[in-house]
Amino acid sequence: MKNIAWAVTGAGHYLADSVAAMEEISRKNRVCTFVSRAGEEVVKMYGLFDRLPEISGGGYLEEIFLEQEEGASSPKTGRFMMNRFDLLIIAPATANTVAKIVCGIADSLPTNAAALANKAGVPVYVLPTDVKENAKTEPPYTIDRDLCIRCEVCEPRNACPKGAIEEQIDLVRCDGCGTCKDLCPHGAIRKAAISVTTRPLDKENIERLRAIPGFVVLEGPEDIETLF
Ligand SMILES: Cc1cc2nc3c(=O)[nH]c(=O)nc-3n(C[C@H](O)[C@H](O)[C@H](O)COP(=O)(O)O)c2cc1C
Repeated sequence: MKNIAWAVTGAGHYLADSVAAMEEISRKNRVCTFVSRAGEEVVKMYGLFDRLPEISGGGYLEEIFLEQEEGASSPKTGRFMMNRFDLLIIAPATANTVAKIVCGIADSLPTNAAALANKAGVPVYVLPTDVKENAKTEPPYTIDRDLCIRCEVCEPRNACPKGAIEEQIDLVRCDGCGTCKDLCPHGAIRKAAISVTTRPLDKENIERLRAIPGFVVLEGPEDIETLF
């Protein structure tokens, strides 16, 4: 059994696959989850937040640390210096987090975890979202304005438990439950696949990350389980 630190950032791409890998790996290992501020929002938008307590059940080294509750100095990442973790996985890793790591910035929970793990000689495995060109990804629920006919009584709006439906869906309030989708008679609330475009700068940052001793760049979510 390994003690795994797992950092989740604010990326929708590879998110569902990463959470599925966390679930699988947590069956035979301890997983302690570190979530960036943006990560908390995005995980909720995709309706995946309730899955985290099943992965990190709450015992020592199986906690969930949310950046917005953990303070600016990230004291919990001190555990890397005390050799509590065998490895750190950052999956999915936003372009923002990768850029910060390669510049030595450690001002979020995942980037601070990366810095301390690297200092302590703990291997860091990173799954960047911006690896493949023109990859398709699924965004959270949105309202398709070509299909919405602005019914006088909008059932999805009335039923939304978070009060998140206005002219568009307020994704910061949305928790991805999907109630709205099933209630719209016109099918105007949906997830439409979009292409992810990769900036050259993001690709360069991934190459820089690859060159830093102690970091391993994963090419896709399927690489995660090969680590075990
Ligand atoms: C629905 C949604 C999906 C996103 N998906 C990605 C993504 O796949 N990759 C990425 O680099 N940023 C993505 N972002 C933007 C990041 O959340 C944003 O850059 C944030 O500042 C990252 O902070 P973090 O790296 O500390 O988690 C997404 C934002 C939203 C609202």
